[in-house]
Amino acid sequence: MSVLCSSAINGMLRMTTKQITEPRLQPATPNDLPLILRWLQENHLPSSDIPTRLNAIFLYRIGAEVVGLGGIEQFDAYGLLRSVVVAPPFRGKGLGKRLCRALLHQADQQGIRELYLLTETAERLFEKLGFQTIERRTAPPEIQKTTEFSQLCPAVATCMKRVYPHEKPLPEIPEDLASDFTGP
Ligand SMILES: CC(C)(COP(=O)(O)OP(=O)(O)OC[C@H]1O[C@@H](n2cnc3c(N)ncnc32)[C@H](O)[C@@H]1OP(=O)(O)O)[C@@H](O)C(=O)NCCC(=O)NCCS
Repeated sequence: MSVLCSSAINGMLRMTTKQITEPRLQPATPNDLPLILRWLQENHLPSSDIPTRLNAIFLYRIGAEVVGLGGIEQFDAYGLLRSVVVAPPFRGKGLGKRLCRALLHQADQQGIRELYLLTETAERLFEKLGFQTIERRTAPPEIQKTTEFSQLCPAVATCMKRVYPHEKPLPEIPEDLASDFTGP
């Protein structure tokens, strides 16, 4: 009996530790706005339209600590992935890939079937996640009309597209990915 109790307690402890240490994707709230703007500005990413797009932004947290963020603007079956940032101390450890996988999973859950992005720095990262470079003018009008496409991102930025379902499954999707997302 005491063995059973102690194993049950150990299981609960493991769950609690996992819940604390697993990164989780959570919708941003108005309280998060200053941090989001600061991080985007520090990383030279478009930010001026964020106050009106806050509902598209997700924070990636380990426990209470924000370790990354990313955004998905949705237009029915089309989506724009944007504002992907990992906090400098956490870079180069696979967290960016993991954050993007959580965002791709989230986009899929929201019913997005074509996801687009513009990047000046991270083509290789996104190629690994199944994005392909396309000509910017071939993106659908809904995406072309976004502020990021039409006003904020420079014309030299690379345009990339990922379709769902993807011919190649996402690599190394953690079994607990669904639990990365706790809302809305
Ligand atoms: C881009 C960014 C999110 C990557 O985060 P990260 O945690 O360092 O990425 P990871 O450790 O998961 O690396 C994933 C892969 O992408 C590659 N990669 C990471 N950053 C890259 C970059 N800026 N350019 C090209 N490749 C990059 C890594 O080499 C790694 O490749 P590997 O799997 O062969 O080792 C992070 O560097 C960042 O926040 N940069 C500033 C903001 C930015 O430029 N965002 C992209 C906007 S579109």
